[in-house]
Amino acid sequence: MAHVLVVDDERSICELLEITFRKDGHRVELASSGEQAKRRLETQLFDIIVSDINMRDMSGVDLLQYAREISPETVFILITGVPTLSTAIDAVNFGADRYVIKGDSLIDELRQAVAKIAESIELKKETGILRRELRRLTGLDHIIGTSPKMREIFELIQTIAPQSSRVLITGESGTGKELVARAIHENSARSKKPFITINCGAFPETLLESELFGYMKGAFTGAGENRHGLFKAAHGGTLFMDEIGNMSLTMQVKLYRVLQEGKVRPLGSTVEEDVDVRVIAATNKDFEKEIAEGRFREDLYYRLSVIPIHLPPLRERREDIALLARSFLERYRKSMSKAVEAIEPKAMERLEAYDWPGNVRELENTIERAVALETGRWITMEGLPERITRYYQEHRPDLQSNNHDHLVPEGGLDLEQKIGEIERAYLLAALECTGGVRVRASELLKMSYRSFRHYAKKHGV
Ligand SMILES: Nc1ncnc2c1ncn2[C@@H]1O[C@H](COP(=O)(O)OP(=O)(O)OP(=O)(O)O)[C@@H](O)[C@H]1O
Ligand SMILES: [Mg+2]
Repeated sequence: MAHVLVVDDERSICELLEITFRKDGHRVELASSGEQAKRRLETQLFDIIVSDINMRDMSGVDLLQYAREISPETVFILITGVPTLSTAIDAVNFGADRYVIKGDSLIDELRQAVAKIAESIELKKETGILRRELRRLTGLDHIIGTSPKMREIFELIQTIAPQSSRVLITGESGTGKELVARAIHENSARSKKPFITINCGAFPETLLESELFGYMKGAFTGAGENRHGLFKAAHGGTLFMDEIGNMSLTMQVKLYRVLQEGKVRPLGSTVEEDVDVRVIAATNKDFEKEIAEGRFREDLYYRLSVIPIHLPPLRERREDIALLARSFLERYRKSMSKAVEAIEPKAMERLEAYDWPGNVRELENTIERAVALETGRWITMEGLPERITRYYQEHRPDLQSNNHDHLVPEGGLDLEQKIGEIERAYLLAALECTGGVRVRASELLKMSYRSFRHYAKKHGV
């Protein structure tokens, strides 16, 4: 509900409006003169001001001017008992949001206007919060990974983000292409401007065209009004064109032209509009193949891929699995208010061994599911989907106790070193599970604290 200031030197109007707005749930304050209103404005932030025009000490239009300076976001409604053309013109020129004439329907009109404004303010606040929330989640620090491959990508993002060059992000489904696109936008000078996403694969050709470029009323059946396209909406910001590999060849030609000329022409319009948009495109297709087989235009490809970024599948950066899994655990544990704290080493081993065809998204879903199902403090093997545990069984026969065929590789192995590695890995894993508490780690490993210390020292843990 809105915070409203009512300004009128006619007492009865003030009181009537106060009662009406209060009843509708708004917070209302009164000022019985222009000067009093000014003083209020200096100390409080109002969503809406409703002010009379003809007051003894000051004109409502002067108050409007003052309010515009001191509180530009406040919505200003002028009311008058003696409508004249010149005050109406002043009201418009100085930026009044509404102009209402005192008459039989004054109360109804004002109630409706205030309710509508209050609603849009609410909405704005909500999207403001959402935006901030998104921002928080889209910085570079929310892309998790310490593998050399991911480090390279972080560096690349930091280098190229500030410029406006086009970026083409490739990678299998779920590797984080959208996350990277957002991070690039957030780290660029465009971050205060819109980041708009369009899934090019989700639209039939003509619809995609009108979405991207906009249209004029009557341009096609169903075009009932003039509409801006997404290029225009993203002006000054970034347009993320997802699944660009699914775009039809005709659309590719049109897009090529827009990128070439920096102008778009809405469907049915005769005028081109300049647009300043950074395009980041993404695909999970193999472009070389698409081009070779004639499904993607080579010229467009070169336009789009000024800076190519390839996100490797998760199975090629297994080092990141544990880190990702733990951070997802943390995220979902909090959001579901669960007691589960850690991932059992055996379960983690299976997560790290799996080949993740759905990449990070699959891992995230796996952890979310495990957290949701878990009633204890650990995510255990039983909490993992069967495909993951089965994969481990099928691909790690050398670790199965009753299969010794592959235990010793052809060239032999240094057993002492091997055992050392295993010891070290388990120490680290146990410490991980206990948040670094050594006594508890030693208990987990069923050894005395003394032996634990001995091993820790031996392996530099
Ligand atoms: N490195 C990462 N760190 C943290 N979360 C990640 C990482 N990579 C991906 N994710 C998460 O995994 C999910 C999938 O990521 P995203 O949507 O960016 O993938 P995508 O490559 O666009 O997939 P698709 O091709 O299917 O659209 C998202 O929830 C995202 O937050
Ligand atoms: Mg995506």
